[in-house]
Amino acid sequence: MSLVNHTPSQTTTLHAVELTQVRRIFGKRAVLDGIDLKICQAEFVAVLGPSGTGKTTLLRLLSGLDRTDSGSVRVAANRSVVFQEPRLVFAKRVWENVVLGRKGIGARREALIALEEVGLATHVDAWPKTLSGGEAQRVALARALVKQPNLLLLDEPFASLDALTRIKMYELVGQLWERHHPAVVLVTHDVDEAILLADRILVLAHGTIGLDLTVNVDKPRDRADPAFVSLRLRLLAELGVAPAQQPTELIQNAVLSHGRTHHEI
Ligand SMILES: Nc1ncnc2c1ncn2[C@@H]1O[C@H](COP(=O)(O)OP(=O)(O)OP(=O)(O)O)[C@@H](O)[C@H]1O
Ligand SMILES: [Mg+2]
Repeated sequence: MSLVNHTPSQTTTLHAVELTQVRRIFGKRAVLDGIDLKICQAEFVAVLGPSGTGKTTLLRLLSGLDRTDSGSVRVAANRSVVFQEPRLVFAKRVWENVVLGRKGIGARREALIALEEVGLATHVDAWPKTLSGGEAQRVALARALVKQPNLLLLDEPFASLDALTRIKMYELVGQLWERHHPAVVLVTHDVDEAILLADRILVLAHGTIGLDLTVNVDKPRDRADPAFVSLRLRLLAELGVAPAQQPTELIQNAVLSHGRTHHEI
């Protein structure tokens, strides 16, 4: 895998992301203030943090849409981004959106394969305006996947979806990751979403990574699993929104609500 240097540093093939002392300053504020971060190939990392802490700024740096003020950003060259909104081109059919800028039978075939993967093969010739929010977001995922990225960057991709569609999207993203094994950086406000999907969770605070945790919860993950509940409590405490409840109460609540608990920040 080749890496792109935003500023010079050593090459390695072990990591999809290598950040060294990264700073990004807007006005007088260092939104990112000396971030050191390595993400291994095929690692699934979720990034949590209150609004305005720099999660999107971090993702934009990783995607190459923005630059650092200092420090080094090294990322896998082959990477894709999915944003909160699908950003489809309305004047192009679904398949053309998947392989934007490319034409011909080969491109259409590739688009169809990607659309099959996200369960939308029947919509290959549809117009974006006829799609539901969840379908449009699946097209955005297909567009990201068609490049077979080594690094998949997801900025709150499920935030605008209803609860049921979200659960289906979690399953889909989990399956796609199992199949293709890209490194993933998922920015989210949803603590449960982070625990359900990620191997590792980072909490951004005050320009740095305040917490960097491995998710030691058995898969398939169950929101009522005591290890899940305990990790949720830890993360909520770190984010400063933990309810004054004991773990046992949270377990009971999770069971009573059949696992439909949501803790957003
Ligand atoms: N291009 C820019 N110019 C000036 N300030 C910016 C710019 N981009 C981001 N900021 C500021 O940097 C801070 C972090 O923004 P960012 O979008 O990264 O936050 P976030 O953690 O993604 O928030 P949210 O959870 O609300 O999406 C904010 O205070 C924002 O106003
Ligand atoms: Mg953001």
